[in-house]
Amino acid sequence: MNTSELQEVTHEGIEEFLNRGDAFSRQDESDDGRFYALDRFVDHLDAVALETVERIIDTLAVERRPAILDLMASWDSHVPKSIEADEVVGLGLNNNELSRNKAVTEIVLHDLNRDPVLPFEDDRFDVVLNTVSVDYMTRPFEVFREVARVLKPGGLFLVIFSNRMFPEKAVKIWRECSEPERVILVEDFFHGSDSFEAPSVFRSKGKPRPKDDRYADRGIPSDPIYAVYAEKKGTDPKPRKRPPMAEEEKRPLTAEEMKAQREEVKRTLCCPHCGQKMKKWIIPDSPFNTWQNEYMYICFNDACPYLVRGWDVMSRQGNVSMSYRQMFNPENGSLTPMPVPNLKALKDGIMEED
Ligand SMILES: C[S@@+](CC[C@H](N)C(=O)[O-])C[C@H]1O[C@@H](n2cnc3c(N)ncnc32)[C@H](O)[C@@H]1O
Repeated sequence: MNTSELQEVTHEGIEEFLNRGDAFSRQDESDDGRFYALDRFVDHLDAVALETVERIIDTLAVERRPAILDLMASWDSHVPKSIEADEVVGLGLNNNELSRNKAVTEIVLHDLNRDPVLPFEDDRFDVVLNTVSVDYMTRPFEVFREVARVLKPGGLFLVIFSNRMFPEKAVKIWRECSEPERVILVEDFFHGSDSFEAPSVFRSKGKPRPKDDRYADRGIPSDPIYAVYAEKKGTDPKPRKRPPMAEEEKRPLTAEEMKAQREEVKRTLCCPHCGQKMKKWIIPDSPFNTWQNEYMYICFNDACPYLVRGWDVMSRQGNVSMSYRQMFNPENGSLTPMPVPNLKALKDGIMEED
């Protein structure tokens, strides 16, 4: 599947791929137990992304003293301190990693790819977590059905993922899908199990990378976080009220509001989205340049919500790894998006005001 050219991602496209015999094949088909026997006391995400993971769990795991299963667990279950769990069962492959996990009250070593049947009784858990690991499941439909079996009716299955992976152990369909396609794929795992309510999706993309992160100098944003989650079908004796993790959708501005916004920017030279002073940016010499003026004003705030939202908007349109910064043209007073492939782009042209 040529992902970057896809304009619209559909369940049908994924379905076609799923019907291919090799969708869940891997580059390394050797025993998972052996691959994961090597201790990896590493963070699989940057600190900003990890904070988002905790926030998602904190928001959605609303039960008082929940029984939690962390499926494909390691040394950190990302369960925030605010949650006082009755139990946290960590199921994974590495005993040393699981033994260091402070949240876990019980360790279960079990290879899901060998045997997707979970070694737990029906209706035991309130919440099942699966963090940055769904890409390694070779039998996801069976595992999702099993998760439903061990969840109480109304219990939550929360699948969280990003775009980092051990490629040799990730299944082919995951490796070859784009990020928006992976969201659809996980939704399909939920639908395919026929045991969950319609899944919801939360995305967090394009936040600035922490300054002390080891990839900070590469000009890439924080690791994206996707959560696809659903409750188990069935009558819940005590229905749980989970607040939605809705993404912020903004109402489009009216023509009058846009005019007022342009006037305000002309007067203050502040970004209308984050309020930070925009910077003078010298337009480079180029034969393709149709602008008459010598400079523009651009918002270079890496945390500006306009830029942050842009990564996701562009990626949904098939433009993976693109966003845009807010630009103001002092010549004609227009506010337009300026596309950027990363956080470093355009910064060479910044001319600091005296
Ligand atoms: C990228 S790590 C993520 C660990 C943890 N969930 C986290 O958020 O940090 C992938 C985890 O999946 C587990 N895993 C991989 N293949 C597995 C399998 N076949 N059965 C059970 N667990 C598996 C590994 O033990 C490893 O800890």
